[in-house]
Amino acid sequence: MTDHRARGGLEILPVTGLGEFGPGSDVAAEITGAAPWLRDGDVLVVTSKIFSKSEGRMVDAPTDPEARDAFRRRLIDDETVRVVARRNRTLITANRNGLVQAAAGVDGSNVRTDQIALLPLDPDASAAGLREALRTGHGLDVAVIVTDTMGRAWRTGQTDVAIGAAGIAVSHAYDGVDDAYGNTLVVTDIAVADELAAAADLVKGKLDGVPVAVVRGFAPVDDGSRAADLVRDLDDDLFRLGVEEAIDQGRREALLTRRSVRSFIDEPVPADVMNAAFAEALTAPAPHHTHPIRFLWIRDLARRHRLLDAMALAWRTDLAADAKTPESIARRVARGAILYDAPEIVIPVLTGDGMHTYSDDRRNACENTMFTVAGGAAVAGLLVALSVRGVGSCWVGSTIFAADTVRTELDLPAHWQPLGAVAVGRPADDAGLRPAASTDGLVIEL
Ligand SMILES: Cc1cc2nc3c(=O)[nH]c(=O)nc-3n(C[C@H](O)[C@H](O)[C@H](O)COP(=O)(O)O)c2cc1C
Repeated sequence: MTDHRARGGLEILPVTGLGEFGPGSDVAAEITGAAPWLRDGDVLVVTSKIFSKSEGRMVDAPTDPEARDAFRRRLIDDETVRVVARRNRTLITANRNGLVQAAAGVDGSNVRTDQIALLPLDPDASAAGLREALRTGHGLDVAVIVTDTMGRAWRTGQTDVAIGAAGIAVSHAYDGVDDAYGNTLVVTDIAVADELAAAADLVKGKLDGVPVAVVRGFAPVDDGSRAADLVRDLDDDLFRLGVEEAIDQGRREALLTRRSVRSFIDEPVPADVMNAAFAEALTAPAPHHTHPIRFLWIRDLARRHRLLDAMALAWRTDLAADAKTPESIARRVARGAILYDAPEIVIPVLTGDGMHTYSDDRRNACENTMFTVAGGAAVAGLLVALSVRGVGSCWVGSTIFAADTVRTELDLPAHWQPLGAVAVGRPADDAGLRPAASTDGLVIEL
């Protein structure tokens, strides 16, 4: 089994005595000056701040703590490509290189109090540049790892990781390889460069000015990979947003998950999913603190067919009275097929329970409108409660036009008013989120 381990053990050596770095510093010369013992096959692990300093990524900043803080926040904004999570003053961001860390790597530590450090623009290029300078200028063949200190999701504390690398395979995959017990390792992919970065930090330290260490005994193999290869693609990232951000986004997008679905896969919708959606829909606002809506979930297929057949007959009678041709009648009635075909159907009805009665028809009609719109709110809520669970629906109006037939077939009280029917099922196609509607001419400010 090929292995990435250094079987003979490792030495981790601090490079002490380095001077202050500044714009244009010859990093290769400084390091070889401080570590004349550097030799081929070593892994040189360099704190990114050295490159921040040598590559002109130090920014002059106010010394007054409040102004410095505000200035730092602006720098973080500039360096941030994507906000991953935010809580109080903690900001987790992704920068242009896809690195996810606190404050976009903008750092006020281990720098002069009138400066703030930004990460090198391209840490892989910084690593490659130093490796090349050591090769051409000093005849040394070493791998270079550029490090930064990061926290990790799920674990407290920070470790150093590789944000730049050259001359070393940054990871070692064990896909499909059998371990000593015969278990096949399927997804084991050791982030070797991160392990080396963390190991080197054990001798570098944060406070005593040792920004470089050498790992000896590792025998790096140059496979052309870069630290950027250790950044997980956004599409593969199960945790691309913080918990609160993901919940917020889900809430914001809830309404946009709904659209009329007219084609379903041939599978019943689990009762717990239906019941959860009903329970949420029944929280809809209603007048006078009433509960005027019932959802009739027609689960018995024979009953459903009897109802739909009777409705179709009533519809044909209406259309014939309109003097429609038999072809036209057949075409229209065929559109009702969705209620036969859908895995589930629900008939929302307005019971009218709790409606006030007035001494005049006008107010009674108003009261009926008020309860009808409340019914609409509950049905709309049901459609959204289903769609957020990946269940599609189409609300059709037919029972409104066949109220007597529905009451007779389902044996309902005379004052119950059907509010259409909802065809429900898992969508045959995943249409994804829809865009929000244009408000042009539809929102009228007065
Ligand atoms: C009260 C009501 C009755 C409806 N009746 C029907 C119907 O009979 N047949 C149908 O295919 N769609 C029906 N629809 C669905 C609309 O056609 C649909 O909402 C509209 O085309 C917009 O598409 P969307 O729901 O995907 O946003 C009805 C919708 C409502 C609110």
